[in-house]
Amino acid sequence: MNFNPLKEKGLPIEKQIRTWHDITHRKYNKNDVNCYTRTRQILMNGIEIEAWNFKHNFARLTNHEDTLEFLAQTKRIEDAQQSTINWLAPADQSVLETTLGYEQVAVDLTAWLAKNEPDPYVKETFDFGLLEDFDHLYRYSQWAYMEHGIMPDDIVQHQTDVMIGRPTQHHHNCNILRLRKPYDKNIASPQTKVNILTVLSGEQQTHNYYAEHGFAYGNEVLRETYAEIKDVEEEHVTMYESLIDPTESLYEKLLMHEFTEVCTYHNCMEDELDDEIRGIWEQFLDIEIDHLNKAAELFKKYEKRDPEEVIGESVVHPCHFESQKEYVSEVLNSEIDKRLSKGKEFIYVNDLPKEWASYKVQEISGKNGVPSEQTIRIITEQRGKDIVCTTDEIKKEIPVLMKRGLQKEGLAPDTVSAEEYKEIQKNELK
Ligand SMILES: [Fe+2]
Ligand SMILES: [Fe+2]
Ligand SMILES: [Fe+2]
Ligand SMILES: [Fe+2]
Repeated sequence: MNFNPLKEKGLPIEKQIRTWHDITHRKYNKNDVNCYTRTRQILMNGIEIEAWNFKHNFARLTNHEDTLEFLAQTKRIEDAQQSTINWLAPADQSVLETTLGYEQVAVDLTAWLAKNEPDPYVKETFDFGLLEDFDHLYRYSQWAYMEHGIMPDDIVQHQTDVMIGRPTQHHHNCNILRLRKPYDKNIASPQTKVNILTVLSGEQQTHNYYAEHGFAYGNEVLRETYAEIKDVEEEHVTMYESLIDPTESLYEKLLMHEFTEVCTYHNCMEDELDDEIRGIWEQFLDIEIDHLNKAAELFKKYEKRDPEEVIGESVVHPCHFESQKEYVSEVLNSEIDKRLSKGKEFIYVNDLPKEWASYKVQEISGKNGVPSEQTIRIITEQRGKDIVCTTDEIKKEIPVLMKRGLQKEGLAPDTVSAEEYKEIQKNELK
């Protein structure tokens, strides 16, 4: 694909203002929607929130009048785009159903990015984060069944496996260890920059969604599960944002934000199956082309450089959704026992030093047990066993994976051991 957005003319700003009806009236049917239309909807909501938020921060840090005017005009456009996209979700889609959608985004998006990431260190970081969200999907799936009687495949539609990943109780780190090495803005490819901003926007919105909805349930262990996983998403935001070169100027960042919006909408438009929703992606791509061209003018004026030096001459594809079961399974098999180490590197469980900084965090937060483990115990009590969606062959491997994935130290007292799990697996779902 050779689409250079800097050579296109977008929708003029005066045509970007829409009626309240146009902003809010469309919604999908939760029973008919394709799971990847839902993941696009969830991701693009996060992209718009990041664009809006960044512009407000920029506006608080500049006295350039033309920049302030551009930001003032476009912040409300980004905001209206966000409403249109987020409110595509229908009123009868429960918080847990939406949550499964969020984790499906995290798994299948991150896998796609990892497979298309030119920088090996960034790829390694994507693979690392991927296994954590994969485990979240499994924990939340148990609750979706217990609270709403739905099977995870009602949401993920057989495209994403549901089973343990790296156990959630081990995602809680000393947050200093989450910090990764940033790319060098002068040599990193536009693909790397867009990939990171895309996943970062998704993770940030996942965090915010859990922060704003975890209280919607009365069940105490479920509330704690939301709090526990939300904390991991906070770590994911820290991890992914630390990959970005902090010496990029605000104008360079503005350019990257608009370019990421262009690339993600372009990708959504090409992949979308639903005609009405494709119309939204097309219209919003037009809007973003206009934003990008204005951001490019400001960049040229204040940085005295060509925008092509930063974003190249063609869009990249940062959010193609398709089943990634095979890839995820490979990463799971090779990295379930991977952890974060000092020096911004990775380490395996067997090599962890006694004074590993995350032990303290895990020991304190999991002192009285962890909700992510209690989740398995509760569903086993209620239904005889847990909900798992994968092949019989992989199911047999779960206890072995579990043994490798669980640490000996920093382990919660109510952890379901691999031996116990083997027994649970023998039961029938009641
Ligand atoms: Fe936007
Ligand atoms: Fe997650
Ligand atoms: Fe995440
Ligand atoms: Fe924009």
